[in-house]
Amino acid sequence: MKVELRVLKKEDIHILQALLVRCSDYLIFQDEEPLKSTAADDLFGSRPEGVEVKDKFLLGIFVDGQEELVGVFELVQGFAGPKTLSLALMVLEIFSRGQGIGSKAYEALEEWAIGHHFNKVRLGVLFGNVKGLKFWKCMGYSETGEVKPHLSNKFMVLEKTLGVPSELALGKQTLLQRSVNIG
Ligand SMILES: CC(C)(COP(=O)(O)OP(=O)(O)OC[C@H]1O[C@@H](n2cnc3c(N)ncnc32)[C@H](O)[C@@H]1OP(=O)(O)O)[C@@H](O)C(=O)NCCC(=O)NCCS
Repeated sequence: MKVELRVLKKEDIHILQALLVRCSDYLIFQDEEPLKSTAADDLFGSRPEGVEVKDKFLLGIFVDGQEELVGVFELVQGFAGPKTLSLALMVLEIFSRGQGIGSKAYEALEEWAIGHHFNKVRLGVLFGNVKGLKFWKCMGYSETGEVKPHLSNKFMVLEKTLGVPSELALGKQTLLQRSVNIG
């Protein structure tokens, strides 16, 4: 199985909206409301206060050259520190979970992050997301001890310090940069 990441653009809005519908179990849990018909548009447009448009982007997760998305990453650069990448959202459609796609997609993201000189990735896991927390711990993340409010819930902050890339990772990164082109 080949997992690829690609920067999503406005013209991908229809495949993104269709994906979000297939992820609605998780998005309803996160947002505490039904999925909106404008969900994809909102995901493109939303960003933390003070973050410029160029520093927020969406990476689509594709499998085996198919045109439909199986998942998406929402990323913000520079918000939590100049070399820290903030992972605001990672979600896979329900039918693609539990097959190793998430871990492969995450590995590709980490290679990209190392290649772009980020030394840390930071993310939040909502209380009650037991599978999500287990996934991130398996990916090498640790709780920082910070707990922040989110609607009626709370999330814990997790971080991972990224290593120096090995020769092998550098080789893979060059290949990755051909398909993942972010400023
Ligand atoms: C969290 C999430 C991104 C993980 O992605 P994923 O593709 O399901 O993760 P993986 O398949 O790599 O690993 C999950 C499980 O599948 C198992 N698995 C991996 N490859 C497998 C394979 N080929 N066949 C069967 N199971 C496999 C893993 O061992 C793991 O099992 P475990 O939970 O019992 O340890 C995904 O489940 C998801 O989108 N969940 C909803 C949204 C969410 O919670 N996002 C995170 C917010 S913080």
